[in-house]
This record gives sequence, C-alpha cells and structure tokens, in this order.
Amino acid sequence: MPDRRPIIAANWKMHHDHHAAIQFVQKLTYIVEAEVYEGLDVVICPPFTDLRSLQTLIESDQLDLALGAQNCYFEDQGAFTGEVSPPMLAKLKVAYVIVGHSERRQRFGEDDEIVNRKVQAVLRHGMAPIVCVGETLEEREGGRTAETVAGQARAAFAGVTKAQFERCVVAYEPIWAIGTGHNATPEDADGTIGVIRSALRDLYGDLADGARIQYGGSVKPGNVADLMAMPEIDGALVGGASLDPDEFARLLRWGR
Ligand code: 13P
Repeated sequence: MPDRRPIIAANWKMHHDHHAAIQFVQKLTYIVEAEVYEGLDVVICPPFTDLRSLQTLIESDQLDLALGAQNCYFEDQGAFTGEVSPPMLAKLKVAYVIVGHSERRQRFGEDDEIVNRKVQAVLRHGMAPIVCVGETLEEREGGRTAETVAGQARAAFAGVTKAQFERCVVAYEPIWAIGTGHNATPEDADGTIGVIRSALRDLYGDLADGARIQYGGSVKPGNVADLMAMPEIDGALVGGASLDPDEFARLLRWGR
C-alpha cells in the first residue's frame, strides 16, 4: 500500500478580503508548531483577490503552506469577462485548484464536461486539481451514492493521462454534509471513498492506490481525528472551520 501524505485544505469560499487573509496566515503560522507540517500538506484556498498577497507572504516568510484557488476557467485567455485563467494562477505560484465544488455545480451550472475541461486545463499548466465529487441528499436516499460519485469521478478524469493523474487530489464532499454541521460518519465516508478509489482503479490501475482522497463536509476540530483514522481518508477539505486561525490550527493538530 503506497504511503499517501495527508493533505488538509482550507476552502474559505467567499470569505476574508486580502487584509483578513494576511492576518489569518500570520496568526496561523505563529500558533502552529513546525512539527505539524512535517507529515502534512496544508493548502489555503482564498478568494482570487487574496492570492497575490498570500503568495508574497508565503514566499517572503518561507511558510510551509501551499496556495490554492477555488476555481478557474478552462481557456488560457480571451473574451471571457469575469473569468480567471489557469496560467494567471500558475504565475501566482498557485499549486492546487479546487474544481467542480458542489457549489459551482449547483449554483453556477458546472456540469461534468465543464469540470473535465477545467481539470485538463489546470493540469496543462502544472497545477494539481482538487476534484470534488459528492451526492445530493436525494441521490443518497435513493440509493444512488455510489453510482453518482463513481460517474462524476470517471467524467472528471476523461482524457487525463496516468502521469497527470499522479498529481491529482480528489475530495469526496456529500452535499448534505456541507455547511450543515452533519458530517458523514467516518465509516460512511470511508466506504464511499473506497467506491471512488475503485472507480479510479478502473481508469488508472494501481496508481489509484496512491491517489489522495479527502473528505469534506462539516469537518471540525472535534471530528477530524476520527475521520483521518479511516484507511481510505487522506485529508480534509474544510469550509467553516477553516475561517478562524485558532480553530483551523486545532484541526491541523489532530491526533497530537
Ligand atoms: P463546511 O466545512 O463548511 O461544511 O464546507 C465544506 C466544503 O464545502 C469545503 O469545500
């Protein structure tokens, strides 16, 4: 079984302007002990307007944080008013881009084909997508969780080569667990992540065993240890509990 380095990402969604972002990162890195980062990748995904400020802070202070974006468009440039392109993000040393978050799928009309084009565009520019999949409450209650997440995963990775796949991260985020305070049980999340991994195994064989798959949906300092203890869960994509540096620091110190 390959070693999968845990990865915890803060998805701030539409919170924190660039002043607040700088304060957050300064406080977080002041209070989190250096050892915490030794076995863990920590990614901060702020709004686009914060990226340049955080890039310069991370570089100048040589912080052990990776920068992530929450979205991007799939074209490199052109007449696409309001969009941000992958090369623009790569230029800011963005390492990860969240693609296909359920809020983008549900509120901004992103379908599997758009998600796939974004995954390919992010990879083409040397960054790693954090590819989000997850079922609605209706799909879950209808017994269609496995079919939904496996289908989303297969569609997202269409045309992605084995070499590209090795860089990718997947996040299983059941929609009914996002922002609700009701996380999936560790066993439930682990089982569904197992389903996702086996769909990836169909595409990439043994490489799927090295792919990092996060759980997201009401991850908090109080439940992160039980989630991270599960064999299939390699990290967390954290919304609400990533907004306060003290709370996020507690979460990063799980198991200590
Ligand atoms: P919450 O942690 O607020 O439930 O959000 C999860 C999420 O959507 C992270 O991308």
